[in-house]
Amino acid sequence: MKLTSDELRKKWMDFFVKRGHTPISSASLIPENDPTVLFTTAGMHPLVPYLLGQPHPAGKRLCDTQKCVRTGDIDEVGDASHCTFFEMLGNWSLGDYFKDEMVPWSYEFLTEQLKLDPARLAVTVFEGDADCPRDEQTAKLWEKCGIKKENIFYLGKKHNWWGPAGQTGPCGSDTEMFYDTGKPKCSPECSPACDCGKYVEIWNDVFMQFNKNADGSFSPLKQKNVDTGMGLERVLMNVQGLKSVYETDVFAPIVKKIEQLTGASIADPDKVKAIRVVADHIRTATFIIGDERGVTPSNVDQGYILRRLLRRAIRFGAGLGLKNGDYSKIAETVVDKYKDAYPELLSARDKIVHEIDEEQARFERTLENGMKEFEKLCKFLQSDVIPGKSAFRLYDTYGFPLEMTVELARERGKTVDVEGFEAKFKEHREKSHAGAEQRFKGGLADTGELTARLHTATHLMHRALKEVLNDPSVNQRGSNITPERLRFDFSFGRAMTPEELKAVEDKVNAAIAADVPVVCEEMTVDEAKAQGAVGLFTAKYGEKVKVYTMGEFSKEICGGPHAARTGELGHFKIVKEQSSSAGVRRIKAVLE
Ligand code: ALA
Repeated sequence: MKLTSDELRKKWMDFFVKRGHTPISSASLIPENDPTVLFTTAGMHPLVPYLLGQPHPAGKRLCDTQKCVRTGDIDEVGDASHCTFFEMLGNWSLGDYFKDEMVPWSYEFLTEQLKLDPARLAVTVFEGDADCPRDEQTAKLWEKCGIKKENIFYLGKKHNWWGPAGQTGPCGSDTEMFYDTGKPKCSPECSPACDCGKYVEIWNDVFMQFNKNADGSFSPLKQKNVDTGMGLERVLMNVQGLKSVYETDVFAPIVKKIEQLTGASIADPDKVKAIRVVADHIRTATFIIGDERGVTPSNVDQGYILRRLLRRAIRFGAGLGLKNGDYSKIAETVVDKYKDAYPELLSARDKIVHEIDEEQARFERTLENGMKEFEKLCKFLQSDVIPGKSAFRLYDTYGFPLEMTVELARERGKTVDVEGFEAKFKEHREKSHAGAEQRFKGGLADTGELTARLHTATHLMHRALKEVLNDPSVNQRGSNITPERLRFDFSFGRAMTPEELKAVEDKVNAAIAADVPVVCEEMTVDEAKAQGAVGLFTAKYGEKVKVYTMGEFSKEICGGPHAARTGELGHFKIVKEQSSSAGVRRIKAVLE
C-alpha cells in the first residue's frame, strides 16, 4: 500500500477522533520541570501527571503525534531503521477504556486502515511474573479478532513491559504488534523476540496500571490507563515494504539534497552510511534548534547532545565532500518537508541556519588542533586503549564529542576507556555545579511540595522579569526545577544589573507577601490568549489548556503542579544570573 506521512498522521487522528478521542498538539522536545531526562522520548512522557491521576483538560481520551528524540542508539544510526528523531503516533485512555476496547481497535486499524494482511500479523503478550499476572485476557482478545494461536507469543518483562520513562513513574505490561516479512524462521524458536528480521514491530499498546517506585517496587496506580505508541517512520517503511526509513517520503527530499550537494548516491554501498547519518542527525538538530523551547549547541545538557549530533554529521559529511554552508542547506530542506506538520520550524528557520553554520565554523577552528593532539596521543600511546582522561581533554579543550574519539580510535585499531571518560565528565560536572546528578536523582513524577513551590515562584519571576526589564524580547526559553532550586532560561541580550536583580526579587517577595490563591482554570488557547496569559501558544485552535492565575501577579498557560497559595513560598532569592548561550540568560533561584 502506498502511504505518505501526511496520510498516516491523518488516518491516525481520524480513526481515534471517531472513537471519542481529542487530538492534542505535540509537546516540546525539551521536557519542562522534569530533571530525569533531557528530551521527550515517548508520547506518554508529557502526560505523566495525567497518567498518575490529574484530570487532563482535554478529557480522558487523547491522541497525538509526538516529536521524540532518543540518542541512546546513536551508534546504530546508519542502518535501515534507527533514527535519533522520530514521530510517535499515540492514543491514550486516562482511566477510561482498557484492553477490551484497545485490542479490537488495534486490529481494526492495522487491517482496515493500514490494510495489513491479518494472516501475517503476530502479537506478543506478557507471560506474567511476581509483579503482574500472565495476560491471558489480551491473548484471548487477539484470538477473538482473528489472530491465529500460533501467532500469539508470551514473553517476559524484557520484551513485554514498558516504562517508566525516567527512573520512577507509570508503567505496565504491554502487547506488541508485528508484521511477518515472510522470511523463513531462523530457528524453530524464532519469534518476534528474535532480531533476525522475520518480524518487524509496528505498534505497542501499554496497559499502564503500575507506578515504579524509587526502591524498584511496583504499586498499583489510582487508575488503569492505556498508552500506545507507533513509530511513524518505521510504520511507513514496513507497510510499504521499503528497505529502509530513508526511502520513505519524510527522508526522501533530505537524502536527495545530500546527493545533489555531493554527487554521491545512497545506492553506493560506500556512501550509504554517511548519507544516512547526515540525514538523520541534521533532521534531529533541526528539530532541537527549531523547537518551541529550542536550545543551541553548548557543552552541557541538551546543548551538548545537539553539539554531538552536529559534529558527528559534519565528520561523516566531510567524507562525502559536504562543505561550509551545506549543512544548513540540508536543514532548510528539513524545514520545508515538515513546515505544515510542525510550523514552529518555519518560524525558527533563520535561527536554525545560523546556529548550524556557527557550529560548523566553531568546529572547524578546533578540529585541526584537536586532530594534531589526537595523532600525537596515538603515537605515544603505550597500549591500544586511549585513557579516559585523554578522551576528556579532547572533549573539553578541542570539542571532540566522545563518540568521535571512539570512532577515530576504531579507525586506528584502538579503543577508548569510556568509563574513565565518564568518571572525568562527572567530576567536571560536579565541579561546575551543572547539576548533572540531579537529573538522575528523584523521579519523573516528582510532584512534591518543594518543586511545586519553586514552580509557582518561576511563574512569579517570569512576570517580574518582563516588568523589570521592560523588554518585549524577554521570554521563557527553558525551565528546570529540582527540589533544591529553580533554573530559568530567558531570552535577553545582556547581563542584568544588581539593581535589576534586586527589583525582581522584591516583586516576587511582594507577591508572596500578598498570599493570593493560585487558581487553575481550563479554557481554549484562544481564550487564554485573549486574557493575556503568557506561555507557549503551540496548542491548536480550540484546544483546551490549563491557565494558572496568581492574583494580579501572574497568568500563565502551564500543566502544573503549583502551590495552593503564594504565601506558602517563603522567601525568594536569586543566587546566580549568567549567560546560558548567545542571547539567553540563566537565573538560578531558591526559596528560603
Ligand atoms: N510508551 C510506549 C512506547 O514508547 C507506547 O513504546
